[in-house]
Amino acid sequence: ELRGVVALDGPSGTGKSTVARRLASRYGAAYLDTGAMYRAVTLAVLRAGVVLSDAEAVARGARSAELTMGTDPEHPCVLLAGEYVDDEIRGAAVTEAVSAVSAIPQVRRALVAEQVRLIEAAMSEPGGIVVEGRDIGTVVAPDAGLKVYLTASSQVRAQRRSAQDTAAGRESDVDDTRADVQRRDKLDSGRQTSPLRMAEDAVELDSTGLDVAGVLEHLHKLVESRG
Ligand code: C5P
Repeated sequence: ELRGVVALDGPSGTGKSTVARRLASRYGAAYLDTGAMYRAVTLAVLRAGVVLSDAEAVARGARSAELTMGTDPEHPCVLLAGEYVDDEIRGAAVTEAVSAVSAIPQVRRALVAEQVRLIEAAMSEPGGIVVEGRDIGTVVAPDAGLKVYLTASSQVRAQRRSAQDTAAGRESDVDDTRADVQRRDKLDSGRQTSPLRMAEDAVELDSTGLDVAGVLEHLHKLVESRG
């Protein structure tokens, strides 16, 4: 059993989502993809035609988005006003815009509050929760029982993202993906409000030479050693 919160942070393309989901499944825990929340409000804002440079308008759009997160790791889902948007939030338009939206402090404040609420709801049930993102160990769940910071070289991360896009039927090119991964790393690490960084008490796990099973093996050991 997992008990409590496992915080899984790191830059894009480290395979966080895959391993977070499988880890949650294995321990019968809930699963929360906070990146999907930033992506969903970005989609809502884009659909509303809001100019991204207008932080106030973006924050208003984000707050009025009717976002619902499914936290079952067997069927994770994201809904906007009742519509499943899981595929659309991973398309190019949202990926391009999401770092700008997530850099806005009022957007983060609203989503962090919602994340804390979802974590508390999960904690009232047995099994715990695996939460993945950029600032989970540092801001959203600073008291998490286990914090893991997942890294990998940017080349490997671009290859993984690109393979994932191709598998999902989206057009993809490794060089473009690497450029995008590096662009988002820079924006996510450089922003003022809760930038991407490793929590002091996190365990760093470099997945460059590991496959999914290899990463999971490390995670299982960490969970069991903290039991
Ligand atoms: O994890 P994913 O690539 O789906 O996240 C999309 C974007 O959402 C990130 O590039 C980052 O800008 C933002 N994000 C964030 N804080 C989180 C999770 C994601 O700022 N906790």
